[in-house]
Amino acid sequence: MNEKKTMLSGIKPSGDLTLGSYLGPLHHWPKMIEEYDCYFFMADLHAITVRQDPAALRRRTLEQLAQYIACGLDPDKCTLFIQSHVRQHAELGWVLNCYAMFGELSRMTQFKDKSAKNADNINGGLFTYPSLMAADILLYQPDFVPVGEDQKQHVELTRNIVQRFNGVYGDVFKVPEPYIPKVGARIMSLTNPAAKMSKSETEDTGRVTLMDDPGAIMKQFKRAITDSDTERCVRYDPDNKPGVANLMTIYSTVTGKTYAEIEQEFDGQGYGKFKPAVGEAVVEILRPIREETQRLLSDKSYLEGVYRAGADKASHAAEKTLRKVYKKIGFVAR
Ligand code: TRP
Repeated sequence: MNEKKTMLSGIKPSGDLTLGSYLGPLHHWPKMIEEYDCYFFMADLHAITVRQDPAALRRRTLEQLAQYIACGLDPDKCTLFIQSHVRQHAELGWVLNCYAMFGELSRMTQFKDKSAKNADNINGGLFTYPSLMAADILLYQPDFVPVGEDQKQHVELTRNIVQRFNGVYGDVFKVPEPYIPKVGARIMSLTNPAAKMSKSETEDTGRVTLMDDPGAIMKQFKRAITDSDTERCVRYDPDNKPGVANLMTIYSTVTGKTYAEIEQEFDGQGYGKFKPAVGEAVVEILRPIREETQRLLSDKSYLEGVYRAGADKASHAAEKTLRKVYKKIGFVAR
């Protein structure tokens, strides 16, 4: 009898994982594998809603798997898999498309943003992205879905789909809760504190990736935007000093110090000392992750073993749900 609650989350391998990916979702996950039955995956099916270079997609998918492990997701304690390896995702995704309404899909802010950014490729997949995400979630009947603020709307849509579906067929799906960690949930670009530090934005100069070496990281922090007021002191004021607030969030998440402690540490010192101090703290936290990722990437057969076992485990769980769904809708059993 499995008493543990279930949790699931995924990241699209559409760009290199950044410090934002780490301090946002990733660093919370290893704590969760002790307590919950966890599924984590590389959302490659979702990645292709925007055109991807095939070699880069393959490289990033494996790199992301290695990074998950390097960040502390022990494959013996959780299920790590590649979304396209578990065919039930695409199958349930289709079914749920028929239970997601055109109107509600049209209201998704991510769809609107991405359509604006990819005006020459507003494909059907971009539009129905949330139904596939609902399938990712519902196949495993999780209690929680840890996501960033930007994905909350998709989890809410998933809940609507569940209510609609269960309303017709009875209690097939469990209603999932979004779980949004408070501190460090949202790391902003170092050069534009109004925008999230993005993994997809190739032209985003304000990001640090998990594979950046110490020199590159220090350079990014030294040129980080602070603010243009004349006060020039380290004080947490996200409305008026968003650049400084972002650096403080990073420093606080990495070192565990509170904002008050940070203000005191840099009292009367201006930004000249503060920015490299944040950089150094980040270098130290990312160093073991980068080194372990590189080591794992050189061991292809180990990674292969991990993602194969993960896909087997995931599809076993997913198949149970899918069968139930097919039966309820009236598909003839094979
Ligand atoms: N849409 C998520 C993102 O862009 C990735 C994702 C796909 C996901 N399927 C999911 C996250 C299911 C949580 C649960 O980051």
